[in-house]
Amino acid sequence: MPVKFYKPENQVPLEMHKVRVVQKLNLLKVEDRLRAIQEAGNNTFLLQNKDIYMDMITDSGVNGMSDKQTAAMMTADDSYAGSETWNRMKAAVKEVFGVDNLLPAHQGRAAENILAEAFVKPGMKTLMNFHFTTTKAHITRLGGEVIELVDPKGLIPQSDDPFKGDFNLQNLRDAIDKFTPEKVAFVRVEAGTNLIGGQPVSLENMLAVTDICHEKGVVSVLDASLLQDNVYFMKTREPMCKYMEVKEIYRLLASRFDIIYFSARKLSFSRGGFILSSDPKWTDMMMEFVPLYEGFLTYGGMEVRSIEAAAQGLLESLDMEYINQGPEFIAYLAKELDDYGVPVILPAGGLGCHLNCTEFVPDMPHNQYPAAAVGAAVFIAGGIRGMERGTVSEQREPDGTERYAELELQRLAVPRRVFTLSQIKYCADRVKWVWDNRSLIGGLQWTMEPKVLRFFFGRMKEIGYWQEQLVEKFKADFGDSL
Ligand SMILES: Cc1ncc(COP(=O)(O)O)c(C=O)c1O
Repeated sequence: MPVKFYKPENQVPLEMHKVRVVQKLNLLKVEDRLRAIQEAGNNTFLLQNKDIYMDMITDSGVNGMSDKQTAAMMTADDSYAGSETWNRMKAAVKEVFGVDNLLPAHQGRAAENILAEAFVKPGMKTLMNFHFTTTKAHITRLGGEVIELVDPKGLIPQSDDPFKGDFNLQNLRDAIDKFTPEKVAFVRVEAGTNLIGGQPVSLENMLAVTDICHEKGVVSVLDASLLQDNVYFMKTREPMCKYMEVKEIYRLLASRFDIIYFSARKLSFSRGGFILSSDPKWTDMMMEFVPLYEGFLTYGGMEVRSIEAAAQGLLESLDMEYINQGPEFIAYLAKELDDYGVPVILPAGGLGCHLNCTEFVPDMPHNQYPAAAVGAAVFIAGGIRGMERGTVSEQREPDGTERYAELELQRLAVPRRVFTLSQIKYCADRVKWVWDNRSLIGGLQWTMEPKVLRFFFGRMKEIGYWQEQLVEKFKADFGDSL
C-alpha cells in the first residue's frame, strides 16, 4: 500500500529504498545542447552521455541495482560450462515462474531471434497485440508477417481504460481461423506494450488468449520484458488480482503460456535475456540455436556477473515495494504534465511517460517526424534525452513508402530506482516550457536514412532554423540559467 501523507497536498510517491552510489551529471548550456543535438543528427540515440542531464531514452539495462545484486555479482562462478551461477539463475526462475526449463540469450532481441528461427517460416503469420521493433525485424527477416490485434481502445491516446494493451479476442479467433492454425507461427502477448505507451494487458485477457491458443492448437508466447510493471498494474487495477500474491501471478502465467521470454535489461534490473517454458519440448526446439548464436547453454553470451544480478533482480521483481517505484514515478510525471495541459498518454503506463506529439504539433505532417522534432526540442530545453516512438521507429513498406505510426510518441523513460523526484519535477517543468513554445517547433528531414532499424542510427536536420529560434526564446525566458 502507498504510504499516506498527513497533508493530502504533500502526497508524492515515496521510495522504499535509499541511494548509496551516485554518478555525477552534466547540464550543458543551452547553446551547447543545440550543438550536441545537431551533431547527433537530431537522433537522440547518437547523443553522447556526457552531454545529457536526464537520460530518459530507455529503461533498458540502466535500472538502479540493489546492494544485494552488486553483492551477488561478486559471487559469480565464471566458467564456460556448468557454472554455479547458472544453477542459481535456474533456481530464481523456478522460484518466480515455477518452471525448470531455461535458455540464455545475450539480450531480449537475441531471444527473439532464437524464437523466430525456431518457429517462423516464409509466409507464416505471427499474431500479437502490438509489435516491438526488434521482434518485427526478426520475423520479417525470415519471411514472416506481423499481424497486430490490439483492441482499438489501445490506440486512444487518453482514456480511463486500465488495460489498453489487451488483445481483441474476437479478432484473434477470426485471424487464426482465417490464416489457419498451421500458418500461425505463434501468438505473442507483449505485456506491457512498448510502442503504445507502456500500456498493460489484464490477467483476464492473457488467460483468454492462452485459452484460444490451446483450443486452436497454436503456440502461445509471452514477451515478459515489461512484466514487472504489468504485474503492478494488475495488482492495483484488476479486481481479480488484488488479493493474489505477486508470485501467484507470475506462476499462473508460466503455467498457461507455452513459452515466456524476457529482456533481463528490464525484468530483473540487470542485463541479458532468457527463454523459459514449463514443457521441455519448446526449449528443446530452440536449444540448438543458443550455442550457434549466443554461447554455451550455461551463459548464452552473457557476462556471468550479469546472470548473478539477474537471478537476484528477478527475485526482487516479486517485491511490490520495488516494482511500484517505476509506475508511480511515471504516473506522477504524467499527472504533472496533464495538469499543465501537456498531451500525454493516459492512463500512465509502465516504462515511461509518453508525450502525444500528434497533439503537441498538430499541423506537422508525419513525414516531418513530429515525435522526433518534439524530442529534439525537449533536449534543447533541458538536456533531457527521450526516444522517438513514432514514424521514425517504423520500417518503410517493401515498396519504399512510409508507414505512418498509429501514435506519434516521444517517450520519456523512467529507469527504475534511478531518478529523484526533484529531477522528475525538473523534467515536467522543462516539458511544460516546450509545450508553451510549441509554435516554434518545426519539422525534420533525413540526411542519412538506413534501411533497417533506421531510428537507431539515421540522421536528420531541422527544416529551417526553428532550433536556433528555440534557443533564443530559452535565453529570453531563463536568462543565465543552464
Ligand atoms: C517488449 C520488449 N521486448 C523485447 C525487447 C528487446 O530487449 P533487448 O533490448 O534486451 O534486446 C524490448 C526492449 O526494449 C522490449 O521492450
